[in-house]
Amino acid sequence: MISRAELFAGAATYYARHRTDYGSEVVEHIAGELALDAASRVLDLGCGPGTLAIPLAARAGEVVAVDPSEEMLTEGARHGVPGIRWVRGDSSMLDELPLGRIDHVVMGRSFHWMDRERVLDDLDRLLPAHGAVVLVGPVHDPEEPPWEPVAQAVRRDFGLEWRANSESYEQTGRHHDDVLRESPFRRMESRCFTRVIRRSAEDIVGLQLSFSYSSPARLGDRLPAFTEALREALAAANPGGADWEEEDVTDVLIARRP
Ligand SMILES: C[S@@+](CC[C@H](N)C(=O)[O-])C[C@H]1O[C@@H](n2cnc3c(N)ncnc32)[C@H](O)[C@@H]1O
Repeated sequence: MISRAELFAGAATYYARHRTDYGSEVVEHIAGELALDAASRVLDLGCGPGTLAIPLAARAGEVVAVDPSEEMLTEGARHGVPGIRWVRGDSSMLDELPLGRIDHVVMGRSFHWMDRERVLDDLDRLLPAHGAVVLVGPVHDPEEPPWEPVAQAVRRDFGLEWRANSESYEQTGRHHDDVLRESPFRRMESRCFTRVIRRSAEDIVGLQLSFSYSSPARLGDRLPAFTEALREALAAANPGGADWEEEDVTDVLIARRP
């Protein structure tokens, strides 16, 4: 079984380059709803290369950015953004990590990797009464982008499969809001942000290498063959070579105690 630290092995630079950020509207919404100021301390759990930690650092006193992947932390820390403490660890060790005081927790596309009930119980002990748990990313199944069937067929040819955590929606059938509804953080508000983004074929190829199921480590020495096959399949599906257009949807779910 692959360790948490290895889930995204080799993927961090592709992640930072090819995953889109969430956009300033999302960050402003979170900062406003949490009333962040110079005294606020925010935990970004499963921070990756700092997709949320970096923009939120400008709005909070300190962001503690936690991830099991050293590569992701190095990629994030490389930007030298002040006000972020990068900490190696994961959701199963919240009590032991040197977090200090935290007011709120944000998780961008990372909650599905965790034992969700346990994390919420731990956060109930760690967060103050006003503390919020903020999930950013898809809460329910997002619509697939137009290039996904093409990428999926190539992944299938290479025997690459999405592997879900045993506590995840895929395994339990319970969406994030179902899990929150039965947790201490059952008072929820959510808002959906939509925008249209365009990706070149090269962006789509790079993006695949940022996913856990088609990371450079998962592909090993088949990486050049995979990227070549995907380039060919994308060109065949879109002979004019124009950028691919897709709707990018980000849900922000803010959960508090009643
Ligand atoms: C899809 S990335 C999301 C990164 C970033 N938060 C974002 O919004 O783009 C998921 C991240 O969760 C981390 N992760 C996986 N299992 C975790 C766990 N049990 N606890 C904390 N982080 C975890 C991975 O290392 C990875 O960096």
